[in-house]
Amino acid sequence: MQTVIALGELRLVLGGFRAAGQRIALVPTMGNLHAGHYALVELARSRADRVVVSVFVNPTQFGPNEDFARYPRSLDADAEGLRAHGCDLLFAPAADTLYPYGSADTVSVQVPGLSDQLCGQARPGHFTGVTTVVTKLFNAVQPDLAIFGQKDYQQLLLVRRLVADLCLPIEIVMAPTVREADGLALSSRNQYLGPEQRALAPALYQCLLWMRAQVAAGQPLAEVEAKARADLTARGFAVDYAALRRADDLSPAGIAGNQALVGLLAARLGTTRLIDNLLV
Ligand code: PAF
Repeated sequence: MQTVIALGELRLVLGGFRAAGQRIALVPTMGNLHAGHYALVELARSRADRVVVSVFVNPTQFGPNEDFARYPRSLDADAEGLRAHGCDLLFAPAADTLYPYGSADTVSVQVPGLSDQLCGQARPGHFTGVTTVVTKLFNAVQPDLAIFGQKDYQQLLLVRRLVADLCLPIEIVMAPTVREADGLALSSRNQYLGPEQRALAPALYQCLLWMRAQVAAGQPLAEVEAKARADLTARGFAVDYAALRRADDLSPAGIAGNQALVGLLAARLGTTRLIDNLLV
């Protein structure tokens, strides 16, 4: 595995792959890699000839009071893990490579509507930071396909919309969420949880399973959402949202009918914000 930090070198290596007729997959990450990320890398491996993983803690997707400064950074361990999981090229750019005019003055890419709801409501500007950096990474790597985890479901739909709307020839592949044995979705932020919070955290997944069963039993969606919120609040979560939405565009579902739905939760334990979702 090769590690590159500069755009020129990245383009040189990728040019070699393309000249050999190889299909390139990109797995964008913010590093601090865990089994959930490595599952993305393995899926990429099975779908392309060459796997490129980017590691970049993107400043523009963090709000002023969020954890950008303390977000865990572990590039050496990440590189070791990526080598073991079949990554061909690690792209670990410096901030001024992706933001040559500074992150405050960057050209930005905004997906209207979808960016402002659910996580976008609780984290204003977050998704514009994500779609901006993902566009930059897509332009830098020009992959044939890119892998995104289902855990960040809203992000995945935003990227699909971005690619379609900007006519980018990139297939967006969704990788299933990887969970701990007790159901907690893997996330770099799980390491912020204290022991009591960690014991409580799998209740999110239990709640999603409960929501799915209620929808299957024909319960009114608004009632299911309200009960899910009340249950999590009673357990000690500060709930941002408990929502049942249409799976294709996150628009309000109204009634369940035959449409594919997704249950989505976001809640805080102390200062740690956890999200999870389940297709219904
Ligand atoms: O999902 C993430 O880790 C980030 O939002 C991403 C897609 C790498 C953009 O910084």
